[in-house]
Amino acid sequence: MNPSTQPVEILSAERIAERVTNLAKQINQFYQGREILLVSILDGAIIFTADLLRQLRIPTQLDCMRISSYGSSTSPESAPQITGSLKSDLRGKHVLLVDDILDTGNTLQRACEEIKSHHPDSIKTCVFLDKAERRTNHFQADWVGFSIPNEFVVGYGLDFDGHYRELPYLGKLPS
Ligand code: IMP
Ligand code: MG
Repeated sequence: MNPSTQPVEILSAERIAERVTNLAKQINQFYQGREILLVSILDGAIIFTADLLRQLRIPTQLDCMRISSYGSSTSPESAPQITGSLKSDLRGKHVLLVDDILDTGNTLQRACEEIKSHHPDSIKTCVFLDKAERRTNHFQADWVGFSIPNEFVVGYGLDFDGHYRELPYLGKLPS
């Protein structure tokens, strides 16, 4: 795929912004009176995290985790590896794990296992997209921005071989 190929828009920037506002409201309500540690999974969740974070009205700390599952292919090549770990002490924390997309579920399952092994008070997950058809485990996120069919999507932080993350909308690549 040539990186100058223009993706076809499937979710506009406006529609995304509306949904993020709505998710933030639900999260604010759920955690009312508590402080959270938002853990963002780099690199894909960076834009979604930044937008969500600015609409949280609860005290929030931020940490990031990097997990690699895909190389330059569009299918998982191996079990996810944690390549960048958290700096925070998780004991006594309410962790909100944020990712761009729940696909096979391997990445979030691995991330949750890692976080749980550090004994936080609670752990919840929020994903921008859910491609439920592709799931190979029973992983379900607590908050989902949009459920989408089994298509490879780019933009709003999601990439194809390092490209397209900067697009303000979500698009699919022409097949
Ligand atoms: P999982 O481990 O299969 O759930 O994959 C999750 C990761 O794969 C996401 O965090 C994304 O980085 C990547 N991914 C899965 N589907 C897509 C897609 O359609 N576009 C871009 N990246 C994707
Ligand atoms: Mg990712």
